[in-house]
Amino acid sequence: MPPADMALPDHCDFVVFGGTGDLSMRKLLPALYHCALEDRLPADTRIIGISRADLDDAGFRAEVRRSIATHVPADRQDASAVERLLERVFHLTLDVNDPADWHQVHGLLKDRPAFEETVRVFYMAVAPTLFGTISQRLAEGGVADDPARVVLEKPIGHDLASARAINDAVGEVFEEHQIFRIDHYLGKESVQNLLVTRFANTLLEPLWNSHWIDHVQITVAETVGVGTRGGYYDHAGALRDMVQNHLLQLLCLVAMEPPIEVGREDVRDEKLKVLQALRPWTREEIDTDIVRGRYTAGIVDGEPVPAYREEVASADREESLTETFVALKTEVQNWRWAGVPFYLRTGKRMDRRSSEIVIVFKEPPHDVFPHRTGVTQPNRLHIQVQPDEGMRLHLTAKEPGPGGYRMRPVSLDLNYATAFGRHSPDAYERLLMDVVRGIPTLFMRRDEVEAAWAWCEPILQHWAESGLPPKRYPAGSAGPTTAFTLIERDGRSWQEAELS
Ligand code: BG6
Repeated sequence: MPPADMALPDHCDFVVFGGTGDLSMRKLLPALYHCALEDRLPADTRIIGISRADLDDAGFRAEVRRSIATHVPADRQDASAVERLLERVFHLTLDVNDPADWHQVHGLLKDRPAFEETVRVFYMAVAPTLFGTISQRLAEGGVADDPARVVLEKPIGHDLASARAINDAVGEVFEEHQIFRIDHYLGKESVQNLLVTRFANTLLEPLWNSHWIDHVQITVAETVGVGTRGGYYDHAGALRDMVQNHLLQLLCLVAMEPPIEVGREDVRDEKLKVLQALRPWTREEIDTDIVRGRYTAGIVDGEPVPAYREEVASADREESLTETFVALKTEVQNWRWAGVPFYLRTGKRMDRRSSEIVIVFKEPPHDVFPHRTGVTQPNRLHIQVQPDEGMRLHLTAKEPGPGGYRMRPVSLDLNYATAFGRHSPDAYERLLMDVVRGIPTLFMRRDEVEAAWAWCEPILQHWAESGLPPKRYPAGSAGPTTAFTLIERDGRSWQEAELS
């Protein structure tokens, strides 16, 4: 396996299949623009959008210009940086299923100086069913060999078998070290900071186990609905769309053992062990420890919004059982975590947008203040992934004043924007440049993706067989009431973020 190279290559072709699609316009091209703005693209870079749209280079550049104007904050817009980026942008119209069209792709990629040394990044922002075909066509044209890399967007399949089939198809062409399976949560600064908090400090690690931690909560709440993505989402649902990837990746980073180093494979090896240690599901536990919900009409951010069923009315299924909310309780069955529940929840059209991890510590083993007054709460470490990235450590303190011990919860706060004086870059900026450099740490390896699917598989099967509808929750609420029962029956409660 070639060694990771932290230095940027001199030559790069960044090829986006699905170049005019939503992901490309909303995330990838703005991220590449930011890299261009900060001079972080290899000097000789071409960005080639490939799509079925009947566009020439000029037409595609106009689309890219619009995407930057729409999706890049005003204080980051710089006319000369936009021009510098656009000079590097090209478009090819292609039906990927038509072999006759492919000679133009092969020709364009080979028709450049330093072809042999050029890092070619093939970003698959298309349906996963096309990943195999595209890989084959690239190989036929002789453009898939090292140093070529392929980036696979989630979802990688809709169950274990389909994920394996996709991995096999891509794996026939690309070696594992050339394949970058993206989970954009791993590109978020606060998620990477979780590794730093745990492993670049000595304070927490001795407490990071079942002796001192009571339980862990991971929440990814969104206010958005399914919008225009109903066609995809109605076949996916929250378990496939969010839990199988983003939430499990967060859980892995919380629960993993210290890696030997944050280098090529160590972090991924440790994350895999966590996935393999997750408690397997029985049918009874699926019924008792998982809540699935779906939003009905309601009010979000002061605006009335329709029910999920109405939002996906144009989707091809009259009556689906798709869930837009999942809450579950699981356990990592190993020495460090035995007996510590991990509560996970995610939902669309919730009352707030917030991704957070809360580590709730145990109560002190002995009370030395028998006559205390006031309020005490267990210590909590609150990691805010978004918005307002930061961390808050909740402690108990004595309220100043004579006579006895009056207790009060207080907190130590770290707000990223204040502490570092700038907002964090978008996850895709970091991840795209890691692909160009060939650094795989923040990408999911095949075995990780498949282990995550293997854990989800019994849930999907049981839900499909039972045919029970999801619980209803009004849009703009905190989810179905049973999601509260799930945690409250254990004498615990969901902790909401209060970071500002
Ligand atoms: C995507 C899901 O992976 O993540 C979307 O497909 C979801 O449904 C999105 O909205 C959330 O990402 P973020 O970065 O906005 O939390």
